[in-house]
Amino acid sequence: MRSKKMRVGILSAGGDCPGINAAIRGVGKTAIVEYGMDVVGIINGFSGLVEKQTISLSESQLSGILTLGGTILGTSRLKPFKVNEGEDPTVIPSLIKKHYEELKLEALVCIGGNGTQKTADLLAQEGLNIIGVPKTIDNDIWGTDLTFGFDTAVHIATEAIDRLHTTANSHKRVMVIEVMGHHAGWIALYSGIAGGGDVILLPEIPYDMELVAKCLLERSHKKKPYSIVVVGEGIYKEGKKKSAGAYMAKQIKRTTGLETRETILGYIQRGGSPTATDRILATRFGTYAAQMVHNREFGKMVALKNGLVTSVPLSEVGGKTRLIEPDNKLIAKGRSMGVCFGDCTKKKK
Ligand code: F6P
Repeated sequence: MRSKKMRVGILSAGGDCPGINAAIRGVGKTAIVEYGMDVVGIINGFSGLVEKQTISLSESQLSGILTLGGTILGTSRLKPFKVNEGEDPTVIPSLIKKHYEELKLEALVCIGGNGTQKTADLLAQEGLNIIGVPKTIDNDIWGTDLTFGFDTAVHIATEAIDRLHTTANSHKRVMVIEVMGHHAGWIALYSGIAGGGDVILLPEIPYDMELVAKCLLERSHKKKPYSIVVVGEGIYKEGKKKSAGAYMAKQIKRTTGLETRETILGYIQRGGSPTATDRILATRFGTYAAQMVHNREFGKMVALKNGLVTSVPLSEVGGKTRLIEPDNKLIAKGRSMGVCFGDCTKKKK
Protein backbone atom coordinates (compact mmCIF):
# COMPACT_ATOMS: atom_id res chain seq x y z
CA MET A 1 0.00 0.00 0.00
CA ARG A 2 1.30 3.44 -0.97
CA SER A 3 0.68 6.01 1.76
CA LYS A 4 1.69 9.24 -0.04
CA LYS A 5 -0.69 10.73 -2.61
CA MET A 6 0.59 10.26 -6.14
CA ARG A 7 0.90 13.49 -8.14
CA VAL A 8 0.18 13.28 -11.86
CA GLY A 9 0.60 15.95 -14.53
CA ILE A 10 -1.50 16.15 -17.70
CA LEU A 11 -0.69 18.09 -20.84
CA SER A 12 -2.07 18.38 -24.36
CA ALA A 13 0.36 19.20 -27.18
CA GLY A 14 0.33 19.63 -30.96
CA GLY A 15 -2.72 20.51 -33.07
CA ASP A 16 -5.94 20.38 -31.06
CA CYS A 17 -8.91 18.16 -31.86
CA PRO A 18 -12.38 17.44 -30.50
CA GLY A 19 -12.23 15.11 -27.50
CA ILE A 20 -9.11 16.37 -25.69
CA ASN A 21 -11.18 17.75 -22.82
CA ALA A 22 -13.06 14.45 -22.55
CA ALA A 23 -9.67 12.72 -22.24
CA ILE A 24 -8.37 15.23 -19.66
CA ARG A 25 -11.58 14.65 -17.70
CA GLY A 26 -11.18 10.87 -18.00
CA VAL A 27 -7.59 10.93 -16.71
CA GLY A 28 -8.22 13.53 -14.01
CA LYS A 29 -11.49 12.25 -12.57
CA THR A 30 -10.28 8.65 -12.44
CA ALA A 31 -6.98 9.74 -10.87
CA ILE A 32 -8.84 11.70 -8.17
CA VAL A 33 -11.98 9.61 -7.58
CA GLU A 34 -10.63 6.09 -8.04
CA TYR A 35 -7.02 6.49 -6.94
CA GLY A 36 -6.98 9.57 -4.68
CA MET A 37 -4.18 11.26 -6.65
CA ASP A 38 -3.36 14.96 -7.00
CA VAL A 39 -3.76 16.23 -10.55
CA VAL A 40 -1.77 19.07 -12.09
CA GLY A 41 -2.66 20.59 -15.47
CA ILE A 42 0.34 21.76 -17.53
CA ILE A 43 -0.48 24.85 -19.60
CA ASN A 44 0.17 24.98 -23.38
CA GLY A 45 1.78 21.59 -23.91
CA PHE A 46 5.51 21.17 -23.31
CA SER A 47 5.88 24.99 -23.11
CA GLY A 48 4.13 24.78 -19.73
CA LEU A 49 6.87 22.51 -18.44
CA VAL A 50 9.59 24.77 -19.79
CA GLU A 51 7.99 27.85 -18.25
CA LYS A 52 6.62 25.99 -15.21
CA GLN A 53 3.06 27.12 -15.92
CA THR A 54 0.54 24.85 -14.27
CA ILE A 55 -2.85 24.75 -12.61
CA SER A 56 -4.06 22.40 -9.96
CA LEU A 57 -7.08 20.44 -11.20
CA SER A 58 -9.80 19.46 -8.71
CA GLU A 59 -12.65 17.10 -9.47
CA SER A 60 -15.11 20.00 -9.77
CA GLN A 61 -12.80 21.83 -12.21
CA LEU A 62 -12.98 18.76 -14.43
CA SER A 63 -16.78 18.85 -14.53
CA GLY A 64 -18.65 20.38 -17.45
CA ILE A 65 -15.81 19.97 -19.97
CA LEU A 66 -16.85 16.69 -21.62
CA THR A 67 -18.61 18.34 -24.53
CA LEU A 68 -16.19 21.23 -25.03
CA GLY A 69 -14.02 21.40 -28.14
CA GLY A 70 -10.38 22.52 -27.97
CA THR A 71 -8.42 21.95 -24.76
CA ILE A 72 -8.89 23.67 -21.39
CA LEU A 73 -5.12 23.38 -20.86
CA GLY A 74 -4.16 25.03 -24.14
CA THR A 75 -1.58 23.55 -26.50
CA SER A 76 1.55 24.44 -28.43
CA ARG A 77 3.69 22.93 -31.14
CA LEU A 78 6.94 23.27 -29.15
CA LYS A 79 9.28 20.34 -29.83
CA PRO A 80 11.67 20.28 -26.85
CA PHE A 81 14.24 18.08 -28.56
CA LYS A 82 14.35 20.04 -31.82
CA VAL A 83 16.86 22.87 -31.79
CA ASN A 84 18.24 25.31 -34.33
CA GLU A 85 21.80 24.97 -35.51
CA GLY A 86 24.27 26.12 -32.88
CA GLU A 87 21.83 25.75 -29.97
CA ASP A 88 22.52 23.35 -27.10
CA PRO A 89 20.04 20.44 -27.47
CA THR A 90 20.18 19.61 -23.76
CA VAL A 91 18.95 22.97 -22.43
CA ILE A 92 15.17 22.56 -22.87
CA PRO A 93 14.99 18.85 -21.91
CA SER A 94 17.02 19.62 -18.75
CA LEU A 95 14.66 22.45 -17.87
CA ILE A 96 11.68 20.14 -18.35
CA LYS A 97 13.30 17.53 -16.08
CA LYS A 98 14.09 20.13 -13.45
CA HIS A 99 10.53 21.50 -13.41
CA TYR A 100 9.03 17.98 -13.44
CA GLU A 101 11.00 17.31 -10.24
CA GLU A 102 10.25 20.71 -8.66
CA LEU A 103 6.54 20.15 -9.33
CA LYS A 104 6.94 16.79 -7.55
CA LEU A 105 5.33 14.95 -10.43
CA GLU A 106 5.47 11.18 -10.32
CA ALA A 107 3.90 10.74 -13.73
CA LEU A 108 3.11 12.81 -16.81
CA VAL A 109 0.27 12.02 -19.21
CA CYS A 110 0.96 13.46 -22.67
CA ILE A 111 -2.14 13.78 -24.87
CA GLY A 112 -1.06 14.37 -28.44
CA GLY A 113 -0.35 13.27 -31.99
CA ASN A 114 2.73 11.82 -33.67
CA GLY A 115 5.11 14.62 -32.67
CA THR A 116 3.93 14.53 -29.06
CA GLN A 117 4.35 10.76 -28.79
CA LYS A 118 7.89 11.09 -30.15
CA THR A 119 8.71 13.74 -27.54
CA ALA A 120 7.00 11.59 -24.90
CA ASP A 121 9.29 8.69 -25.80
CA LEU A 122 12.41 10.89 -25.61
CA LEU A 123 11.33 12.20 -22.18
CA ALA A 124 10.74 8.62 -21.04
CA GLN A 125 14.29 7.83 -22.15
CA GLU A 126 15.44 10.77 -19.98
CA GLY A 127 13.92 8.95 -17.00
CA LEU A 128 10.54 10.69 -16.66
CA ASN A 129 7.47 8.55 -15.93
CA ILE A 130 5.52 9.12 -19.13
CA ILE A 131 2.22 7.82 -20.50
CA GLY A 132 1.05 8.79 -23.99
CA VAL A 133 -2.58 9.25 -25.03
CA PRO A 134 -3.09 9.38 -28.82
CA LYS A 135 -5.25 12.13 -30.26
CA THR A 136 -5.56 13.65 -33.72
CA ILE A 137 -8.19 14.20 -36.39
CA ASP A 138 -5.70 12.62 -38.85
CA ASN A 139 -5.99 9.09 -37.34
CA ASP A 140 -2.38 8.49 -38.32
CA ILE A 141 -0.71 7.42 -35.07
CA TRP A 142 1.15 4.16 -35.31
CA GLY A 143 0.19 1.50 -32.76
CA THR A 144 -3.50 2.35 -32.36
CA ASP A 145 -6.39 1.40 -34.65
CA LEU A 146 -8.16 4.69 -33.95
CA THR A 147 -7.57 8.14 -32.45
CA PHE A 148 -10.26 10.40 -30.99
CA GLY A 149 -10.96 13.52 -33.03
CA PHE A 150 -11.14 11.50 -36.23
CA ASP A 151 -14.83 10.60 -36.00
CA THR A 152 -15.82 14.24 -35.42
CA ALA A 153 -13.67 15.44 -38.33
CA VAL A 154 -15.20 12.81 -40.63
CA HIS A 155 -18.71 13.91 -39.58
CA ILE A 156 -17.92 17.57 -40.28
CA ALA A 157 -16.31 16.79 -43.65
CA THR A 158 -19.22 14.51 -44.61
CA GLU A 159 -21.76 17.19 -43.80
CA ALA A 160 -19.80 19.64 -45.94
CA ILE A 161 -19.77 17.17 -48.86
CA ASP A 162 -23.53 16.61 -48.44
CA ARG A 163 -24.05 20.33 -48.83
CA LEU A 164 -21.86 20.49 -51.93
CA HIS A 165 -24.06 17.92 -53.71
CA THR A 166 -27.05 20.26 -53.93
CA THR A 167 -25.21 23.34 -55.14
CA ALA A 168 -23.11 21.21 -57.53
CA ASN A 169 -26.33 19.81 -59.00
CA SER A 170 -27.95 23.23 -59.44
CA HIS A 171 -24.95 24.56 -61.39
CA LYS A 172 -23.83 21.32 -63.07
CA ARG A 173 -20.33 21.75 -61.70
CA VAL A 174 -17.41 19.67 -60.56
CA MET A 175 -16.89 20.38 -56.87
CA VAL A 176 -13.47 19.74 -55.36
CA ILE A 177 -13.27 19.59 -51.57
CA GLU A 178 -9.95 19.49 -49.75
CA VAL A 179 -9.96 17.88 -46.32
CA MET A 180 -7.18 17.68 -43.70
CA GLY A 181 -5.15 14.63 -42.71
CA HIS A 182 -1.55 15.73 -43.23
CA HIS A 183 0.29 12.89 -45.05
CA ALA A 184 -2.53 10.39 -44.40
CA GLY A 185 -5.79 10.08 -46.33
CA TRP A 186 -8.04 8.70 -43.58
CA ILE A 187 -10.37 11.72 -43.41
CA ALA A 188 -10.55 11.92 -47.23
CA LEU A 189 -11.32 8.20 -47.55
CA TYR A 190 -13.97 8.03 -44.82
CA SER A 191 -15.72 11.32 -45.61
CA GLY A 192 -15.38 10.59 -49.33
CA ILE A 193 -17.17 7.27 -49.01
CA ALA A 194 -19.71 8.59 -46.45
CA GLY A 195 -20.42 11.63 -48.62
CA GLY A 196 -20.67 9.75 -51.91
CA GLY A 197 -17.56 11.22 -53.55
CA ASP A 198 -17.14 10.27 -57.22
CA VAL A 199 -13.38 10.78 -57.17
CA ILE A 200 -11.38 10.36 -53.94
CA LEU A 201 -7.68 11.27 -54.03
CA LEU A 202 -5.48 10.08 -51.18
CA PRO A 203 -1.81 10.87 -50.47
CA GLU A 204 -1.20 7.11 -50.28
CA ILE A 205 -2.34 6.46 -53.88
CA PRO A 206 -0.42 8.34 -56.58
CA TYR A 207 -2.98 9.65 -59.08
CA ASP A 208 -2.77 10.03 -62.84
CA MET A 209 -4.38 13.32 -63.93
CA GLU A 210 -5.43 11.81 -67.25
CA LEU A 211 -7.41 9.11 -65.43
CA VAL A 212 -9.07 11.65 -63.14
CA ALA A 213 -10.07 13.73 -66.18
CA LYS A 214 -11.30 10.61 -68.03
CA CYS A 215 -13.50 9.62 -65.12
CA LEU A 216 -15.06 13.10 -64.84
CA LEU A 217 -15.63 13.38 -68.62
CA GLU A 218 -17.22 9.93 -68.71
CA ARG A 219 -19.62 10.98 -65.97
CA SER A 220 -20.52 14.13 -67.87
CA HIS A 221 -21.03 12.11 -71.11
CA LYS A 222 -23.33 9.78 -69.17
CA LYS A 223 -25.38 12.91 -68.38
CA LYS A 224 -24.41 12.84 -64.72
CA PRO A 225 -25.07 16.48 -63.91
CA TYR A 226 -22.21 17.00 -61.50
CA SER A 227 -19.25 15.35 -59.76
CA ILE A 228 -17.75 15.51 -56.30
CA VAL A 229 -13.97 15.20 -55.92
CA VAL A 230 -12.66 14.68 -52.37
CA VAL A 231 -8.98 15.46 -51.97
CA GLY A 232 -6.68 14.79 -48.99
CA GLU A 233 -4.50 17.83 -48.27
CA GLY A 234 -1.36 15.69 -48.61
CA ILE A 235 -1.81 14.62 -52.26
CA TYR A 236 0.91 15.41 -54.77
CA LYS A 237 0.85 18.90 -56.22
CA GLU A 238 3.38 20.55 -58.47
CA GLY A 239 5.44 23.40 -57.07
CA LYS A 240 4.88 25.03 -53.73
CA LYS A 241 1.20 25.86 -54.16
CA LYS A 242 -0.42 25.96 -50.75
CA SER A 243 -3.70 24.22 -51.40
CA ALA A 244 -4.12 20.75 -52.88
CA GLY A 245 -7.81 21.54 -53.51
CA ALA A 246 -7.10 24.69 -55.51
CA TYR A 247 -4.37 22.88 -57.45
CA MET A 248 -6.64 19.96 -58.30
CA ALA A 249 -9.55 22.22 -59.33
CA LYS A 250 -7.18 24.05 -61.71
CA GLN A 251 -5.93 20.77 -63.20
CA ILE A 252 -9.51 19.53 -63.68
CA LYS A 253 -10.54 22.75 -65.47
CA ARG A 254 -7.45 22.53 -67.67
CA THR A 255 -7.83 18.87 -68.62
CA THR A 256 -11.64 18.60 -68.92
CA GLY A 257 -12.96 22.09 -69.58
CA LEU A 258 -15.71 21.35 -67.04
CA GLU A 259 -16.85 24.15 -64.78
CA THR A 260 -15.09 23.48 -61.48
CA ARG A 261 -15.03 25.05 -58.02
CA GLU A 262 -13.02 24.28 -54.91
CA THR A 263 -13.73 24.33 -51.18
CA ILE A 264 -10.95 24.16 -48.61
CA LEU A 265 -12.57 22.94 -45.41
CA GLY A 266 -9.64 23.75 -43.11
CA TYR A 267 -9.83 24.21 -39.35
CA ILE A 268 -13.61 23.77 -39.19
CA GLN A 269 -12.70 20.06 -39.06
CA ARG A 270 -10.85 20.53 -35.76
CA GLY A 271 -13.29 22.79 -33.97
CA GLY A 272 -16.36 22.34 -31.84
CA SER A 273 -17.92 19.61 -29.78
CA PRO A 274 -16.81 15.96 -30.17
CA THR A 275 -19.23 13.32 -31.44
CA ALA A 276 -20.52 10.72 -28.98
CA THR A 277 -18.07 8.19 -30.48
CA ASP A 278 -15.11 10.50 -29.84
CA ARG A 279 -16.30 11.33 -26.32
CA ILE A 280 -16.47 7.63 -25.53
CA LEU A 281 -13.06 6.82 -27.04
CA ALA A 282 -11.43 9.79 -25.28
CA THR A 283 -13.04 8.74 -21.99
CA ARG A 284 -11.87 5.14 -22.43
CA PHE A 285 -8.32 6.31 -23.25
CA GLY A 286 -8.24 8.81 -20.36
CA THR A 287 -9.51 6.43 -17.69
CA TYR A 288 -7.11 3.75 -18.92
CA ALA A 289 -4.19 6.21 -18.72
CA ALA A 290 -5.04 6.91 -15.05
CA GLN A 291 -5.12 3.17 -14.40
CA MET A 292 -1.66 2.90 -16.03
CA VAL A 293 -0.36 5.67 -13.76
CA HIS A 294 -1.67 3.74 -10.74
CA ASN A 295 -0.04 0.53 -11.99
CA ARG A 296 3.16 2.45 -12.80
CA GLU A 297 3.10 1.22 -16.42
CA PHE A 298 5.29 3.97 -17.81
CA GLY A 299 6.95 4.49 -21.18
CA LYS A 300 3.81 3.36 -22.98
CA MET A 301 1.00 4.84 -25.07
CA VAL A 302 -2.67 3.95 -24.63
CA ALA A 303 -4.01 2.30 -27.79
CA LEU A 304 -7.10 0.72 -29.29
CA LYS A 305 -6.51 -2.76 -30.73
CA ASN A 306 -9.35 -4.83 -32.16
CA GLY A 307 -11.89 -2.85 -30.14
CA LEU A 308 -10.03 -3.20 -26.83
CA VAL A 309 -8.09 -0.50 -24.99
CA THR A 310 -4.53 -1.59 -24.32
CA SER A 311 -1.04 -0.04 -24.49
CA VAL A 312 2.04 -0.12 -26.72
CA PRO A 313 5.64 0.87 -25.89
CA LEU A 314 6.32 4.51 -26.79
CA SER A 315 9.62 3.40 -28.28
CA GLU A 316 7.66 1.56 -30.99
CA VAL A 317 5.42 4.55 -31.79
CA GLY A 318 7.81 7.50 -32.11
CA GLY A 319 8.73 8.63 -35.61
CA LYS A 320 6.21 6.44 -37.45
CA THR A 321 2.99 7.30 -39.29
CA ARG A 322 0.01 5.00 -39.79
CA LEU A 323 -0.93 5.42 -43.44
CA ILE A 324 -3.71 3.69 -45.38
CA GLU A 325 -2.54 0.32 -46.70
CA PRO A 326 -3.09 -0.46 -50.42
CA ASP A 327 -5.35 -3.42 -49.51
CA ASN A 328 -7.68 -1.27 -47.37
CA LYS A 329 -11.16 -2.79 -47.49
CA LEU A 330 -13.01 0.53 -47.79
CA ILE A 331 -10.96 1.42 -50.87
CA ALA A 332 -11.89 -1.96 -52.37
CA LYS A 333 -15.60 -1.31 -51.65
CA GLY A 334 -15.33 2.11 -53.27
CA ARG A 335 -13.64 0.69 -56.34
CA SER A 336 -16.34 -1.98 -56.67
CA MET A 337 -18.94 0.80 -56.88
CA GLY A 338 -17.02 2.78 -59.49
CA VAL A 339 -15.34 5.36 -57.27
CA CYS A 340 -12.22 6.67 -58.99
CA PHE A 341 -9.06 6.82 -56.84
CA GLY A 342 -7.08 8.32 -59.70
CA ASP A 343 -5.02 5.20 -60.39
CA CYS A 344 -5.14 2.47 -62.96
CA THR A 345 -6.72 -0.70 -61.60
CA LYS A 346 -6.55 -2.79 -64.78
CA LYS A 347 -4.43 -5.88 -64.18
CA LYS A 348 -1.38 -6.12 -66.47
CA LYS A 349 -1.49 -9.15 -68.79
O1 F6P B 1 -2.61 17.15 -37.29
C1 F6P B 1 -3.82 17.82 -37.37
C2 F6P B 1 -3.78 18.85 -38.46
O2 F6P B 1 -5.01 19.53 -38.45
C3 F6P B 1 -3.46 18.31 -39.85
O3 F6P B 1 -4.57 17.70 -40.44
C4 F6P B 1 -2.98 19.58 -40.52
O4 F6P B 1 -2.14 19.26 -41.59
C5 F6P B 1 -2.24 20.27 -39.43
O5 F6P B 1 -2.77 19.78 -38.22
C6 F6P B 1 -2.36 21.77 -39.42
O6 F6P B 1 -1.44 22.24 -38.48
P1 F6P B 1 -1.45 23.67 -37.80
O7 F6P B 1 -2.45 23.65 -36.69
O8 F6P B 1 -0.07 23.83 -37.24
O9 F6P B 1 -1.79 24.67 -38.86
